[in-house]
Amino acid sequence: MSEIVVLGSLNADLVVSVERAPLGGETIAGSGFAVRSGGKGANQAFAAAKLGGSVAMLGRVGDDDYGRILSQGLAEVGVDTRMVRVLNGISTGVAVITVEASGENRIVVVPGSNGAYSMAELERDADSFAEAKVALFQLETPMETVVGGLKLARESRCITVLDPAPAQRLSRDVLSLVDYVTPNLGELALLSGYELGDESSEAEIVEAARVLLELGAGKVLAKLGGRGAVLVEPRRVERDYAVQVETVDSTGAGDCFNGSFAAAISKGMPELEAMQFACSAASVSVTRAGAQSGVPSLEEVLAFMGR
Ligand code: RIB
Repeated sequence: MSEIVVLGSLNADLVVSVERAPLGGETIAGSGFAVRSGGKGANQAFAAAKLGGSVAMLGRVGDDDYGRILSQGLAEVGVDTRMVRVLNGISTGVAVITVEASGENRIVVVPGSNGAYSMAELERDADSFAEAKVALFQLETPMETVVGGLKLARESRCITVLDPAPAQRLSRDVLSLVDYVTPNLGELALLSGYELGDESSEAEIVEAARVLLELGAGKVLAKLGGRGAVLVEPRRVERDYAVQVETVDSTGAGDCFNGSFAAAISKGMPELEAMQFACSAASVSVTRAGAQSGVPSLEEVLAFMGR
């Protein structure tokens, strides 16, 4: 049985490198194309396993080459993929991604088999939560399955971590099942109803995070990209400032953060140290291309932290 369970999406990332994103109605030339392993769930599972966690992935792929490659890539890094089940008659999820010279990305996801991971399918995997310590969720599978998974995880006394991405509003019913909700700035703005941007002060960000606490979330671990991360609890605020790095590709940096945070807390690392570890892993990941291909090794993260 694995210590970390990830319920989520697996996507083939079709990545186009561009100087800048095209405007509406405009055609531009790209400078490169690659097909890479992605999907928010798979990225988090990959990072957690590569950084030392014992991980099981729960997800659905189609009976196609993308599905086989995605599953195999996770297995190669040690993820238990027995619950990455194949569904017939539907394609594996894909994400069409542009990565600009600045490292900024834009993503369009076609859910495919991820969207068919229903409650009935979840029942086939329900035992996976029994012995787990940490359970990771995102929002690229149907909401009822995410909620069903959160309930199973809670019943098994797992620490639940929800990445509210792609962004959508969440009710008290959902947030009250979550120990750590991990929005980026855009997601925090949508969830809290606050207007937030890169220029927002830390006080404004903390105020917005408190809305999620009022809505039932245990703790808010806000991912602020180049500004690091902030942990907000009812009576405590902690921060970790990111070290400035040369960004090549920010795709999957948030997933790397969640996966490495889970790996750290599953091994008993204190929460604030785990947050620092996750910030460091995500910082290294943006210096490399790709979501899973950008995830650093444990040695590289420790070296980045000066250990
Ligand atoms: O978070 C990055 C991921 O979002 C990509 O790998 C893509 O598949 C989309 O799911």
